[in-house]
Amino acid sequence: MSEQFDLTIIGTGPGGYVGAIRAAQLGMKVAVVEKRATHGGTCLNIGCIPSKALLHASELYEEAGHNFAKLGIAVDGLNVDLPGMLKHKDETVKSNTGGIEFLLKKNKITAFHGLGKIEGPGKVSVTSDEGETQTIDTKNIVIATGSDSANLPGIEIDEKRVVTSTGALDLETVPEKMIVVGAGVIGLELGSVWSRLGSEVTVVEYLDRILPGMDGEVAKNFQRTLKKQGFKFKLSTKVTNVDTSGDSLKVSVEPAAGGDAEELDADVVLVAIGRTPYTEGLGLEEVGVELDERRRVKIDNHYKTNVDGIYAIGDVVVGPMLAHKAEDEGVAIAEILAGQAGHVNYDVIPGVVYTSPEVASVGKTEEEVKDAGIDYKVGKFQMTANGRAKAMLATDGFVKIIADKNTDRVLGAHIVGKGAGEMIHELAVLMEFGGSAEDLARTCHAHPTMSEAVREAALGCGDGTIHM
Ligand code: FAD
Ligand code: NAI
Repeated sequence: MSEQFDLTIIGTGPGGYVGAIRAAQLGMKVAVVEKRATHGGTCLNIGCIPSKALLHASELYEEAGHNFAKLGIAVDGLNVDLPGMLKHKDETVKSNTGGIEFLLKKNKITAFHGLGKIEGPGKVSVTSDEGETQTIDTKNIVIATGSDSANLPGIEIDEKRVVTSTGALDLETVPEKMIVVGAGVIGLELGSVWSRLGSEVTVVEYLDRILPGMDGEVAKNFQRTLKKQGFKFKLSTKVTNVDTSGDSLKVSVEPAAGGDAEELDADVVLVAIGRTPYTEGLGLEEVGVELDERRRVKIDNHYKTNVDGIYAIGDVVVGPMLAHKAEDEGVAIAEILAGQAGHVNYDVIPGVVYTSPEVASVGKTEEEVKDAGIDYKVGKFQMTANGRAKAMLATDGFVKIIADKNTDRVLGAHIVGKGAGEMIHELAVLMEFGGSAEDLARTCHAHPTMSEAVREAALGCGDGTIHM
């Protein structure tokens, strides 16, 4: 009789590999199936990690060019060594994906390489690149197959000149002109990388604002900062065609509401209009696993699909497409399958845009509390009034805290500023414990730190800030 596993997870992205490790910690016999040559999914191979390697390197380059002289550091002959930068990115990816390989082994998880397909409850087939198929017997199956870049109808991606985020992480030369379609997280992060390295970046966005879903005031303020950095924006505009026949790409755009078309030149077009759940080749139709209206795997509150023994987590299900959300769902499903009370608090999932300055948020936006009819108050503090920010020439940005007017409980927080992605976590912890703005305002914060701006914004929810 073949080996029987307690759990088989298809996909070893942040959802899958974290779920597998947690399940193994809880005593389950676990298998994972991954079609990619390395583990870590979109996040480690072509997403979070490589993008942050390039964002970090390009930010230092920009800082050296713009701020070093003001700080009294003379730099001669500052240059971009693009192959060197890409090498740093590739080595970062390799060391991270290798780390997952090690962790899977350490936790005695059996890893199958190949395309996983659900043959029925308790049966997963794995087909290798060579076409050989084997079958895994398992009590439970978790689908953690993630997502893929969404396509713009009629526009062909070649990952050289017309690229998704994957191609944009690997351009061999710095394009003179880049058009980014979509002012979401990918567009602004990868647009920032190439803009800092010298590209003229124009962002074409269908809606009348950038970063939909983020607090409106934050998005507006941040757009101004990006404009100062050289970004051009065409909002309420759609791309209708990309002509690739000449040396230069001809991008046809027109107002989203209809009107006169315009043609823009570009060397590279980055299509970043969102991601779609990845369910291809999984055999879901045959097994009868239902999808929702956006082709995500439909689940109940315990990640269970409509078929017994089959569960789903991460980008392939409802919710923000974020690595840490997928990881937390991986932990939760493992705990649920082990008979524990696995749980994710979806009200407290931080979101960070790793631009410069960073934009970080947790909880509700001002628009959301307004729409919910909540009596609320807002405390704000500008980074220009923060001593450490001045010392670091990092005064772009502000902190905004939204609290319930009657109970003082913090409902949402939004930070634009250097290190915002780190600073947001004191607010996440506060909110997880149901804390109030006064709790935060009365917590001693080290001086001089950017985090003092967070405390000041909390003070702003009460009697007022001290330093502004
Ligand atoms: P994935 O990471 O997509 O992993 C799914 C895995 O399943 C893949 O390895 C795939 O090969 C495998 N698979 C699919 N089908 C099969 C099959 N049939 N058989 C076997 N294997 C299969 N999120 C953040 O939180 N922070 C960031 O900074 C961030 N930056 C990003 C930057 C970019 C450019 C991109 C594209 C995404 C970024 N994300 C970021 C999003 C993040 O990558 C995803 O939310 C996260 O990877 C989702 O994890 P997952 O485990 O659900 O799926
Ligand atoms: P997104 O959903 O963040 O943004 C897509 C943007 O494209 C939106 O502003 C949308 O209005 C616009 N758009 C859609 N169709 C369009 C069209 N036809 N023409 C012009 N604009 C159009 O998606 P994005 O940036 O592709 O990122 C995908 C996912 O990856 C996101 O859900 C995000 O959570 C995740 N991600 C997270 C990161 C982070 O946490 N730092 C970094 C990168 C990606």
